This record gives sequence, C-alpha cells and structure tokens, in this order.
Amino acid sequence: MMLGLNGLSRRWVGLLALYIAILSLLTPAATVKHDNFKTCDQSGFCKRNRAYADTAISNSKWESPYSLDQASLKFDNGILTGVVNKKIINTDESVRLPLTVAFYESGTARVTIDEEKRQKGQIELRHGSKASKQRYNEAEKWAIVGGTTVSKGAATSQDTETGTTKVVYGPGSKFEAVIRHAPFGVDFKRDGETQIKFNDRGLLNVEHWRQKVEKPKEEKREGEEEKKEGDEAVVAESDKSAAEDESTWWEESFGGNTDSKPRGPEAVALDVSFPGYQHVYGVAEHTGPLSLKETRGGEGKHSDPYRLHNSDVFEYEMDSPMTLYGSIPFMQAQKKDSTVGVFWLNAAETWIDITKTSTSANPLSLGIGSATTTQAHWISEAGVLDMFVFLGPKPQDVIGAYTDLTGYTQLPQQFAIAYHQCRWNYVTDEDVRDVDRKFDKHNIPYDVIWLDIEYTDGKKYFTWDPMTFPDPLGMNEQLDEHERKLVAIIDPHIKNEGNYPVNEELKSKDLAVHNKDSNIYEGWCWPGSSTWIDCFNPKARDWWKGLFRYDKFKGTMKNVWIWNDMNEPSVFNGPETTMPKDNIHHGGWEHRDIHNVNGLTLVNATYDALLARDKDEDKHHVRPFILTRSFYSGSQRMGAMWTGDNQADWPRLAESIPMVLSMGISGFPFAGADVGGFFGNPSKELLTRWYQTGAFYPFFRGHAHIDTRRREPYLAGDPYKAIIAQALRLRYSLLPAWYTAFHEASVSGAPILRPNYYMHPGDEKGFGIDDQFYLGSYGLLAKPVTQEGQQGQDIYLADKEKYYDYFDYWTYEGPGTVSVAAPLETIPLLMQGGHIIPRRDRPRRSSGLMRYDPFTLVIVLGNSGDAEGMLYLDDGESFDFQDGAFIHRRFLYTSATSSLVSEDVASTKASGKKAQDYLKQMESVRVEKIIVIGAPAAWKGMSDVEVSEELGGGESAAATRRVPLDWHEKDEGRAAWAVVRDPGVRVGGGWKIAFA
Ligand SMILES: *[C@@H]1O[C@H](CO)[C@@H](O)[C@H](O)[C@H]1NC(C)=O
Repeated sequence: MMLGLNGLSRRWVGLLALYIAILSLLTPAATVKHDNFKTCDQSGFCKRNRAYADTAISNSKWESPYSLDQASLKFDNGILTGVVNKKIINTDESVRLPLTVAFYESGTARVTIDEEKRQKGQIELRHGSKASKQRYNEAEKWAIVGGTTVSKGAATSQDTETGTTKVVYGPGSKFEAVIRHAPFGVDFKRDGETQIKFNDRGLLNVEHWRQKVEKPKEEKREGEEEKKEGDEAVVAESDKSAAEDESTWWEESFGGNTDSKPRGPEAVALDVSFPGYQHVYGVAEHTGPLSLKETRGGEGKHSDPYRLHNSDVFEYEMDSPMTLYGSIPFMQAQKKDSTVGVFWLNAAETWIDITKTSTSANPLSLGIGSATTTQAHWISEAGVLDMFVFLGPKPQDVIGAYTDLTGYTQLPQQFAIAYHQCRWNYVTDEDVRDVDRKFDKHNIPYDVIWLDIEYTDGKKYFTWDPMTFPDPLGMNEQLDEHERKLVAIIDPHIKNEGNYPVNEELKSKDLAVHNKDSNIYEGWCWPGSSTWIDCFNPKARDWWKGLFRYDKFKGTMKNVWIWNDMNEPSVFNGPETTMPKDNIHHGGWEHRDIHNVNGLTLVNATYDALLARDKDEDKHHVRPFILTRSFYSGSQRMGAMWTGDNQADWPRLAESIPMVLSMGISGFPFAGADVGGFFGNPSKELLTRWYQTGAFYPFFRGHAHIDTRRREPYLAGDPYKAIIAQALRLRYSLLPAWYTAFHEASVSGAPILRPNYYMHPGDEKGFGIDDQFYLGSYGLLAKPVTQEGQQGQDIYLADKEKYYDYFDYWTYEGPGTVSVAAPLETIPLLMQGGHIIPRRDRPRRSSGLMRYDPFTLVIVLGNSGDAEGMLYLDDGESFDFQDGAFIHRRFLYTSATSSLVSEDVASTKASGKKAQDYLKQMESVRVEKIIVIGAPAAWKGMSDVEVSEELGGGESAAATRRVPLDWHEKDEGRAAWAVVRDPGVRVGGGWKIAFA
C-alpha cells in the first residue's frame, strides 16, 4: 500500500484513506438481518393482544369488558364526552377511561380514549430522573395542522331502549355515529348504511395502570425502584383477563438488549371492521401489493401483522409486512363505489392484523352473493387511543379529509421534481465538477447532484473533508452556472468527539436525547460513538437552526439543500438498529412513546433551519428542499421521501411501483425509489428500464451503494445511453404537467400517481391493480416494463374510452385489456381521451433553464369530443405564489363550437406587486404548438384556424388573426391528428382558437 505514494496525487491518497475507512464502517450495518427485527410473537404487547383476540374470537360467550357509563355522557358543541369503564375480570373493580368523540366540520369524526389513572404525574426512574406517567398525547402536535374545527351542526339523540347514543353529523347530515353503550362500540353510517364498526369483535383493549407486584421468588435487581403510590389499587394478581401473559409487563429482552418498562404494560388496541369492503390499502411503508394481504396465516397470506416501527432495515425483504423506515397509520377500505378510511394517531410501535370474512348470502335474497368484510386489529405499545374516521364516499374525499388534518404536500421547487443524480459517494469536489461537465457533454439533462456522508471531515456534519472537498464553494458555483443544485447529507447522529464544536455544544447545552439513567445517550453510528439531537426540545431545534447559516456551514450557498438520512433513528448497536425504548426525550416522554414521529421532528427542524438561513440573509427566500428516509403522517409538508436501500434486481424494480403508489394514496406523494437499485450492479437493460420507470416517480433520483460500479447515464453505452436520455427528456418535457400535479397535491392532497381504484372506484376488477397508474389529472396512463427481456405490455383500461399511444397515437378502445408493444426503447404510455396535456419540448440542460421556454399543448379527443386540462405555473422556487405570483389556466376544448379556450382559474386576482411582476416576466412566454389527437375528419382540408387573443382590455379588445393548421390522416391503427403551428398566444393570457 505504501508503494509509489510519491507518484500519486494528494487526491488519490485521500481516496485510498477514504476507501479503507468506508470498508471498516460497512461492518455494523451489514450485520442487520431479518432476525434482528421482532416478529409479533417476540414483541410482548403484540403477542398479548393477538392472544386477547384469539380468546375473544374463539369463545362464543366472549363479551368485551368495556361499557359506557350512560350517566357520564355529555354532548356539547359537536363533542361528546363520557367515561368508558373497563371491568377487571373476576373482580368488582373497574378502570375509568375518559372518552371523547369529536365531530368536525369537514365530516371527520374522532374517537379518543385516555386513562384516568395515568392522566397526571410522573414516575421516578433510577437515579432520580423522571418520566411522564401520562399516555403520550402529543403526536397531534407534529401530525395535525388543520381540519379540527368542531361541527356546530352535529346533533345527538339517545335511545335508551337499544342502549345507544346517536350523533348525526357531516355534510348534509349524511353521516351518523351510533355509540353502543354495553359493550362499548361505535358504528359509523353513511346514508343509513353501516360502513365502519369499532369494537365489533370485542378486541378493544386498554392495558391499565397497575402496581408492579414483586414476586417473592424473583430476586430483586440492583437499583430497581420501589413503586410506592399507595392509592393505587393492586390489581395485577387479580387481572385474569385473556391477556394474562405477564412475562413482558415490566421488562422485555430482544437480541441482547433489555427494555426496562417503568410504566408496565400500557398497550392500546381496537378492532375496526369494514362491512362489505373487500380491499384495504395504506399503512405505509411496506413492500408488497397495494391491496393489503390478510395477516393471520394461510396460503398467499402473511403470518405476521403489518408492523409500523420506523427502522433501518438492511437489505429489506420483498412482499413482507415487516416494518420499514417510515409509518403512516392511515388505512382506506374500498368496495364498489365507496371508499372509507381510518387514521390511528399513535407514534408508538404499532402492529395491524388484517383478516377478511365472507358472510354467506341470505337464503331469502336469491341471487345476491356473499359479501366480504375486512377487519383490521390495530395494536400500539403505548399512548392514548386516538382514531379518526372518514366516510367518503370517493377515494379523494377520504384522502382529502386525511390531508386536511395532516397537511398537504409542500409545493416543491421545480428543480426538486426534475432528475437527481446521487451516489455514495462523489468522492471529491473535482469528481462532482467532472460529472456535471459530462452530463452536458453527453446532452443529458439533470438538476441536482448529491453528496452522501463521505464529503464530511470524518463524519462530522457541517464540515467538509479538507483533502477531498477543498473547494466546495467553487463546486457549487459551477453547478449554479446551469441553475443546478447540490444536496448534502446531514444526519441526526453527532460524532461524539472532543474538538468538534457541534458535539460540544449539543452536550453542554443539554440538547441531546437522554438514556434511561438521565445521562446523554451514546450509541454507535457512521461516525462511531455518537450522540443524538433531541428535536422534541424547542431549544434544540433553535440551535439546529443556527448550524445551517451560510456563515456556520461554510461552503454552502443558496443552491445547497439537505438530505436527512438515518432519522428512524438508526443506531447500529441499538435494539433493532434503533434507540432503546426507555431513552428519555424532552418533556419526560420515553422514546417508546414518540419513536415513529422522531424522524419527522428532525426534518421539521431542518425545514425551519433552511427557511431561517435565507430569511437571515433577507434575500428572495425560497422553498426548502429536504429528502427524508424516516417519516410519519405530516412529513409530506416538509419534503420528499424515498424507499430506502433497495437492490439492483428486476423484482425490486417491479415492487417500487406499488410502494410509490401506496405513498401517493397516503398523503405523501413526493416519493420515489433509488433508480438503478442501491445495492448491486444493474445490467444495462435493468438500468434502462429503471430510468423509464423512474421518469414516473414523483421523486426521481439515481443512487448507488459505495461498492457498486459507476453508472451515471452517460456511461451506459449504446443504445442504452440514448434510451435513458430519452426517458429523462420525457420527464423534462412533461415537467409542466408534473408541476401542476404537485400543485394539485399541495392544495387537495390528491395523489400524483393514481392507481386504478382511485380513478375508477366503480370498477371492482381494477381494485387490485398496482402495476399501472395515471399521472395527475391528465389521463396519462403508464405501465412501465419491469421484467427482463419483456417486449410487450398488457394494459388494463377500465373505462369505455379511447386511449392513444403517447408516442405514435395508435388508438385503443376500453374497457378491456390491450397489448402495447414495448421494445427496450419504449415506455408503455397511453393518453386517455378527454384531456389537454401541457409540455415544454425544447431540450435544456436543467429545468431552471426552461423558465421562459414556450409550451406545447396536446389535446386528446375521446368519445365525447371534448377535452380539458390545467396548467399551474409560478417562478418554481419562491413563496411569491402565496402573494398571487402564479399563472393558473384551464384549457378547454369544446366540440360543439370546435374551439379551444384558455380560462383563468386563479383563485385571487393578481393585483399585488409580486403578482404583477411575475405576469410581466411571463408576458413573452407563448404556446408554440397545439397538437390535436383524434382530430375530427371534418378538419381535413382546413388550412388554418382563427386565433383571438385578449389584449389586456378583456374580451372586447380581442385581436384576431389566422394561423396554419397541418392535417395528418389516419394511418393503420393510428389516429388522425392536426397541428396548429405557432399560434403565438400567451400562456398566461386569455385566448380562443376556433377550428373553423
Ligand atoms: C415544525 O414544527 C413547528 C413547531 O411545532 C411548527 O410551528 C412548524 O409549522 C413545523 N413546520 C412544518 C413545515 O410543518
């Protein structure tokens, strides 16, 4: 190794050292295997609640021990309160559980159950530190941002005969909650029909506060605390309920780690039935099909529940209910023409069992088949029971109500939805500059280049390796020449080393997460020994803000953005590769309580830091971009996610589609998988197909593990390089459609990639389809090729409508399955009749350079002969759109009048200065081409069309002129099409084109 060092440049010495350092670091992560993660059976509370379910279901005499105290009920201003009593079996004792059922203006209902004995106070831990005794009830602080205005219209009535309380609520009073008193349960109805039932199977379970009873035979461990709250009923011995396995009540071990459980058992569980619903979707993030599988064993079913416990899962498994990096405890149920949903707001480890039962047909109603009921059993380790209910009836009603609560996707900067080039690692600043130049040399567009952990000086975030990145500013300035950006990784673990100010401040200011003994928690991660910022502490968030200032994080400038990785958090030597559950966060909460929302808090702090960075500079301040690996409900407000460390093989490519679709219907559509696959080396065919698929991920990034060969698109060779470049160009050309779809998501929560059930909720045959999708509201239907050697693709068309091949206008007619040729250079992509698609067709190096490019409008005429499409446009970077600085148009083609009009749909009139300035800037941006696919035969022989354009004085002051029309005759199976050449109308203005 020492040979010939003299002849090597400094750079190569640095690389060599880097390589050796990396090899040594790979070891800890590489030990993570399936066995490192718990099954339900190895997770005490999951096992207890499954056993509880088995007892309840197998025993026909089983009665849920929960009942509502009728006398306690109060209904005031849309909120019902009362007390649910849990009878302790074989005793006269019962536990009081305060109940709140809130009815919101939006039509959402919310059922919350707390526990009186845990509502106040703290418990003493060893060494005098304290933890909150309360059930965690602050998940909403992070997850919920709106939608909780209480409904004034909700009205209640009691029915003493049936022992129920009814509340009529929701838009048009179409919803009803029927609260059953004994046993306690709630049925939710829409238009008189039951859609959702709580505790129908009697699996509601709130593990109540109890005294720890020392068993005489057990030896008391050193330092173990003595519980001495004298007023507590000693119930442990007498609680002979079904969940009597006490072995994991007070302590639990797994993989050599022991979890002390100072609060004892405290799980909450509830069964939710969806009568008549065959499919459920959601509870991201998991691998496997969009339509969730049953989980209690049997052929084609999982044997473990879907698990939500954010974790760094090394080489994760395909088609598995195992947990992954993020959690969205939101589930939708689908039957013909009806969608409903629930959202379980709980940040602790959660498991969800799914089962389906078929009720046989009523013998009297001949001809009516059996109905499937899907049942979900939600089980969380701690926290209050807090469930939101959405009654639909459309998929968007449910997703819209959920995102009304948890917030809409941030409207990203335009560069963020263009192509990102990443690798672990671009090894020097010169390497970055070189890749940047090569993209240009090969005429391949890209917007962002990324740096993984190796840019730092010894894994110390906010520093640069002086050997390999001596000139970060020079590098960033080169990128900026073509409006390109840099994304640098910043993780939540801080190298625990002296002489590193970030670590020293974190410790001296006491802003780090504590261990159960109240000392600063130390664990092992990329830098070796590390500490972790506690973003639950407002002071820690404030401090974090300061670290991103341009004068603190030297070498960064305005085009540098952030990647928050490892924020589950990943701890190489922690239980299940994360933090011990008995660690203590700000506010006295155990890590157990907040685990799943932990990753969100880091991204929240980073978001605020990036905002502050620009505000401090008092410049034109722009929308932060952050990529996160870990997430929770609400993370969509702050940036993008990706599906973590996938592999370069074909099944992973196929699997990425349902994973990204699942994120989309879960309110977090800004999602993608690593293009090319993270681990391993893709064949050139796989890499090419992956780019063709990735061109349809809302978040589109190529990424690769440090041990893989370089695979930048320009290295792919013929014919792959050109085909990959085509896929990238397709993405860039459709950016106006993508950006408009993101805008729609940012105001309604609508998915960007839309599965069949979402588009066609009446078409039961399509409910399980998850390998094809529509892009936004544009009728663009894609089914990327995900198998080796595949030359054709069968696409399912749900509706009676014309579809055209995107590239050659070959015509297909739904409903049914059609076959599309798909040789390597082809992406199976169809256009559904009835839409107008905006594009920008001029090839550029980056999306920033397309700002003033002209538009092409593609009018796709279907069976009705009419078509419609939206375009949303703003400066693509700032918050000026909030002051009206945007263009929002609806293009409408009407067959009855053979005319295309552009209408303003801006919600506010652009009167402010920012709005006026923007419109002025865009004044010269024109429509350069209009393509009409499926053009009427009557146009044959027409040589021009009439254009009338507003001159600024409204319709009356329109000027008219004629521009040429080119006619293209039908050809074999291809549609007739026509092109209006250079109509020259302003994209931001009002105009009309008459095809006559
Ligand atoms: C981040 O959290 C703070 C404090 O809870 C909140 O005020 C802010 O709106 C959050 N930021 C985003 C982008 O949600």
